[in-house]
Amino acid sequence: MAGKKVLAVFYSQTGQLEEVLKYSISPLIKDKLVSVTFLNLEPKTPFPFPWKVLDFLNVFPESVYCDKIELNEFNAEKSAEFDLVIIAYQVWFLSPSLPISSFLQSDEAKIWLKNKPVITIIACRNMWLMAQEKMKKLILKNSGVLCDNVAFVDGGNSYETFITTPRWLLTGSKEKFWFFSPPGVDKRKIAESTKFGEAIKNALRADKEKEKKSLLKGLGAVHVDEKLMMSEKMGHRGFLIWGRLLRKIKNSKIRKAVLCFYLVFLICMIIVGLPVIIILRALLYPLLKKSLKKQKAYYEEPSGSQIIAQG
Ligand SMILES: Cc1cc2nc3c(=O)[nH]c(=O)nc-3n(C[C@H](O)[C@H](O)[C@H](O)COP(=O)(O)O)c2cc1C
Repeated sequence: MAGKKVLAVFYSQTGQLEEVLKYSISPLIKDKLVSVTFLNLEPKTPFPFPWKVLDFLNVFPESVYCDKIELNEFNAEKSAEFDLVIIAYQVWFLSPSLPISSFLQSDEAKIWLKNKPVITIIACRNMWLMAQEKMKKLILKNSGVLCDNVAFVDGGNSYETFITTPRWLLTGSKEKFWFFSPPGVDKRKIAESTKFGEAIKNALRADKEKEKKSLLKGLGAVHVDEKLMMSEKMGHRGFLIWGRLLRKIKNSKIRKAVLCFYLVFLICMIIVGLPVIIILRALLYPLLKKSLKKQKAYYEEPSGSQIIAQG
């Protein structure tokens, strides 16, 4: 096999996504025939961590509309040619984080992704479907070919992470509290993720990436929770409406006031709307079962949720 070049792009605040990425592709990093270039995206104006509530909410309109922000110069040659591009991203308000969507609107991304196989790796709370739809479009705009998607979600159940993930992001503390599971992706899942790197390494050794088809089928790369599909779509519609309004407000004081109002509205919607969605979902499930299964299969493409025993 001729030496292979891999570009691994990421933006992580707590370092969790970086850990997920580096574990997942550790077999590539160790392989002498593969050279991995890491591109750690740096916004010109860094985002704070931990977040203040209003700063956190303030990035939602631009995130939802994938507005371009300025990034520091990239540490990879503009003219470099890669055999495979891996993009690891976190989800911000059901959208790719701003540094990642901005990278995908850069001149370099046009060059590096053109006709190349692309693998996305996500680490987020648990809602990534709408973000991945946007990623598909952005990758396609750069003439890249999405071959695989691997999604890691926070360990606790949806209700737990609704409290523990924001607490982590707003305080910086990942400590377990009360009876909740700690926030973030399960360490065991991260440790197991080397199986993805092994499969990619073997594929590169066999020139399989040139076929631009999934390299990770049968490894359980993603799992779509049918129960979250409806809430995610409804939430995204709301984000688009409020985001459009907020993007138009140039005065920062007025924008902050509207954001505060939106926060109260959002909390009320969740308290009132969530039980309604749960009841509606249960009542409509028999009617929607077939359509939900179809949608689940669609969102799980191209890698799929199936786990086939290796060996
Ligand atoms: C501004 C912001 C918005 C977020 N929105 C979502 C979301 O819509 N869905 C989700 O599953 N996770 C969401 N998260 C959680 C992130 O995807 C991610 O798990 C967390 O920020 C930790 O990432 P890091 O370890 O790479 O810094 C959000 C995080 C931030 C900072």
